Amino acid sequence: MSFRIQPAPPARPNRCQLFGPGSRPAIFEKMAGSAADVINLDLEDSVGPDDKAEARKNIVQAIGDVDWGDKHLSVRINGLDTPYWYRDVVDLLEGASDRLDQIMIPKVGNAADLYAVDALVTAVEAARGRTKRIAFEVIIETAAGLSNVHEIAGATPRLQAMSLGAADYAASMGMATTGIGGTQENYYMLREGQKYWGDPWHWVQTAIVAACRTHGVLPVDGPFGDFSDEEGFRAQALRSATLGMVGKWAIHPKQVALANEVFTPTEEAVAEAREILEAMEQAQRDGQGAATYKGRLVDLASIRQAEVIVRQSEMIAGR
Ligand code: COA
Ligand code: MG
Repeated sequence: MSFRIQPAPPARPNRCQLFGPGSRPAIFEKMAGSAADVINLDLEDSVGPDDKAEARKNIVQAIGDVDWGDKHLSVRINGLDTPYWYRDVVDLLEGASDRLDQIMIPKVGNAADLYAVDALVTAVEAARGRTKRIAFEVIIETAAGLSNVHEIAGATPRLQAMSLGAADYAASMGMATTGIGGTQENYYMLREGQKYWGDPWHWVQTAIVAACRTHGVLPVDGPFGDFSDEEGFRAQALRSATLGMVGKWAIHPKQVALANEVFTPTEEAVAEAREILEAMEQAQRDGQGAATYKGRLVDLASIRQAEVIVRQSEMIAGR
């Protein structure tokens, strides 16, 4: 155990991030009216090269015009390997109102990528007298991003969240799949003729969670491409929640309720967590460091586990 206290991540719900192309302004009002905690207006891969300029204009205007309520409002800019990203940053920070909360930087490969964006953002903020500092979120979706995930998570105090981008990650790693997240048909073990499927996203997810928790950043699961497959989405999201992620993207409005369901602790889970805390308070009054709860061991670590669930539910309730 390090003597350093693990920093708390931003205290805001991030159960669902709903995406929509910046080139499709007709859906912006629908996005604003959704139950997602975070809105991601996209300038990157859902917008074709010829539509980038128009999409920037749409987004800058909509940030001021649309009533986004209490949503955390983020715009995904283009990657640093494209000719678009600097113009995305400059147009957004020069043109958009203070309602803009965050920009999302895709395909981040190392801490210097964030240093570069931070330098540009800081300069435009100063030039325009913007007093609200824009937050960052990143996508880990390349081999380099995974290799350098810890330095990326600690790169700048602007960083609030980090998502796994399964499709680009799979492409960068050379994985033999075209699916966007979820169960992969060929990733199985054989025992006595039976197939048992494994989770090819487990390692990168755990790496992201560890980096995020070390630096007080929110770990988020990215897109699940097959929006007709509700059970597949739920299974993927439940695994992510179990590993410590706090939310998941929705690339179709159908997925918003599913993500909110999975990443909101159930009433039973919250009630049980409170009972564990009570059992531990009683144990401590009795001078014990451990106790029995429903026939199983609870100890000081159980307090920390239970507190995660109670804190999460209180934050969501207070939204
Ligand atoms: N946010 C809010 N509303 C949306 C939406 C979104 N992302 N996508 C579709 N809708 C609306 C549609 O306008 C339609 O509304 P209506 O009932 O009032 O007509 C309704 O939801 C049903 O839409 P549907 O016909 O099923 O989908 P579509 O063919 O219009 O669009 C996609 C499907 C996948 C192209 C679209 O959902 C989309 O662009 N998703 C985001 C893609 C993205 O941003 N990718 C980048 C991150 S990976
Ligand atoms: Mg991507």
